[in-house]
Amino acid sequence: MGNVGAKEIPQLLSADGRRIDGRRLDELRSITMKVGPLTRADGSAFVEWGENKVMAAVYGPREVHPRHLMQTSKAIIQCRYNMAAFSVDERKRPGQDRRSQEISKVITEAFESVVFTEEFPKTSIDVYIEVLQANAGTRCAGLVAASLALADAGIPMADLVSAVAVGKVAGRIALDLKKEEDNFGEADLPMALVPQSGRLVLIQMEGHMNRDELRQALDLGTKGCREIYERMREALRAKYDTPGRAEPAGVPA
Ligand code: CDP
Repeated sequence: MGNVGAKEIPQLLSADGRRIDGRRLDELRSITMKVGPLTRADGSAFVEWGENKVMAAVYGPREVHPRHLMQTSKAIIQCRYNMAAFSVDERKRPGQDRRSQEISKVITEAFESVVFTEEFPKTSIDVYIEVLQANAGTRCAGLVAASLALADAGIPMADLVSAVAVGKVAGRIALDLKKEEDNFGEADLPMALVPQSGRLVLIQMEGHMNRDELRQALDLGTKGCREIYERMREALRAKYDTPGRAEPAGVPA
């Protein structure tokens, strides 16, 4: 999925099973999550995940623009994933390209399965995801940030959506690929999970895996999503456990 440069292929796995950044195959990159950094949005979150830095902001439920998209029986969700021109090694042309349109679409669909949209007919819930720095897995980091921002905005949801990418690197299934692994590995499989129900709400794959590897990848990804989910809940608690602060309606029990 990522851009492959003309560089030499790096050694992705050492003899003792360590990856290019020293992680084990089932290890996540380091993650920090901050809920509510933007005061003008109804909800927001900032996620630093490895070298990814992603901000999400949520507005709504509010008036639908353009109006012809309005639905009389439910709210619509409009997600816009955007990669800043300075977020990647080679400057990215500003604006929506086909990749960001595709990512915006799959993220929207993931949220449509958890947000109680029928509670807010004729409105729009607008979700902005800005990738400020990218290093593989940005759609997953964007989903996690947006999920926290939706909860921060008090949007009622069945559960938070958690996400991570798994892949195949030097013949082995690995959790949470970084850029070299995404570029030079054999497969990349981003997935998003609704942890309490175990439902997958996004799954994409580029590259090749056999049936057993796919099963192994889904198990490892599920474990990763559950780990991320716990971190998301901690991040929300860190904001809302402050005495005298009301819990947002969007946070699951
Ligand atoms: O970011 P994610 O893995 O969800 O999507 P991708 O399409 O598989 O892209 C993988 C990585 O390639 C991104 O995270 C960026 O680091 C990089 N990329 C880039 O350098 N320039 C682009 N125009 C798009 C992606």
